[in-house]
Amino acid sequence: MSGVQYTVHDFETAARAELDPVYADFIAGGARDEITVRANEAAFGRLQLLPRVLRGSAVRELGISLLGSRASLPVLISPTAFHKLVDPEGELATARAAAAAGAIMIVAMASTVAVGEIADAARAAGDDDVPLWFQLYIQPDLEITEALVRRATDAGCTALVVTVDSPVLGAGERNRRNGFHDLPPGLRCENLVDLRDGERGHVRQIAMSPELNWEHIDWLRGITSLPILLKGVLHPEDARLAVRHGVDGLLLSNHGGRQLDTVPATLELLPEILAAVEGRIPVVLDGGVRRGTDAVKALALGASAVGIGRPVMWALAEGGEKGVRRLLDLLRDELDDTLALCGASGLADLTPDLVRVPAWGPVPGPALTPGADRRFGGVVA
Ligand SMILES: Cc1cc2nc3c(=O)[nH]c(=O)nc-3n(C[C@H](O)[C@H](O)[C@H](O)COP(=O)(O)O)c2cc1C
Repeated sequence: MSGVQYTVHDFETAARAELDPVYADFIAGGARDEITVRANEAAFGRLQLLPRVLRGSAVRELGISLLGSRASLPVLISPTAFHKLVDPEGELATARAAAAAGAIMIVAMASTVAVGEIADAARAAGDDDVPLWFQLYIQPDLEITEALVRRATDAGCTALVVTVDSPVLGAGERNRRNGFHDLPPGLRCENLVDLRDGERGHVRQIAMSPELNWEHIDWLRGITSLPILLKGVLHPEDARLAVRHGVDGLLLSNHGGRQLDTVPATLELLPEILAAVEGRIPVVLDGGVRRGTDAVKALALGASAVGIGRPVMWALAEGGEKGVRRLLDLLRDELDDTLALCGASGLADLTPDLVRVPAWGPVPGPALTPGADRRFGGVVA
């Protein structure tokens, strides 16, 4: 542990000090020129908040209910692979922290602890119905995919998040430059071990599926009764198709800028995606959320919740389970404080009129009377 973390970016600085630079780059990096990585965060800075006043409320309600899962705050842990790269306890530590905070954790299919063990750790740290979701890459072999869905369901996961923006792996040029291609010895994707009968000791590699299409989503709909969210839909027409194919929710995400570079910031796309789904299914947003004010902007525009990816890896690297717990507490405090300053007593009070795009043309300053000194507001004798 190094220093005190007052902001999410302090966790990043602390993680950099702890981590092998190759892993720090793996976390921070994105595809190609990382234009989308930067755009995600910058988009939040460009929007303004326009608060209401004199609507006093002593406490703020931050809890949500989303597709049958309840959480104490509208910040989800987005799926990130390989937590054991940064902490020996890996996903167990993240899950304990999330469960204790009452936050929804989306377990990555590429986790370095098996989903069943993650769920046991979460239940031991929280209560029996801790909200755990499972992120799935549909595999070319559907039998294998079905076995993965069964593992997640048996573990008690209550929703599936299907990542659809990865027909091929994004080009992380930092990883190429650093020669980072494989997990170090001793670490593996535990959910992919022994997936077929008679395969003891066999570990699969995650396959990307360039042939994936909407029929695969229909197939998945047919084999599970869990809510299905699609992660990585960016085009409004695809959002409409998702509704038509019986999808239960969207995680509006550009994979943190790690897949196709130069796609828009997710925040910029949010109004279009919300318009496309016409309120039929919830939309969660991730990408660049670093502050309570960021979360409030997305929620006010109509997102049902937001997700965080890199901040969790930084917090885990910095302080393990305790680090992730402090990160979630920090975001909860920032969120609560932003709500109070916006005159909101709960998430339901967050409405689009609280958010503006700066509409500055030339600033029409007051006409200067001859002899007036602008700096002091007085007239120079
Ligand atoms: C280190 C790392 C690993 C990730 N692994 C996955 C993954 O296995 N599956 C997936 O759908 N998204 C993955 N993502 C993307 C995140 O789920 C999320 O969309 C993104 O990190 C959100 O942006 P943020 O990091 O700016 O919060 C990963 C992101 C990072 C930083």
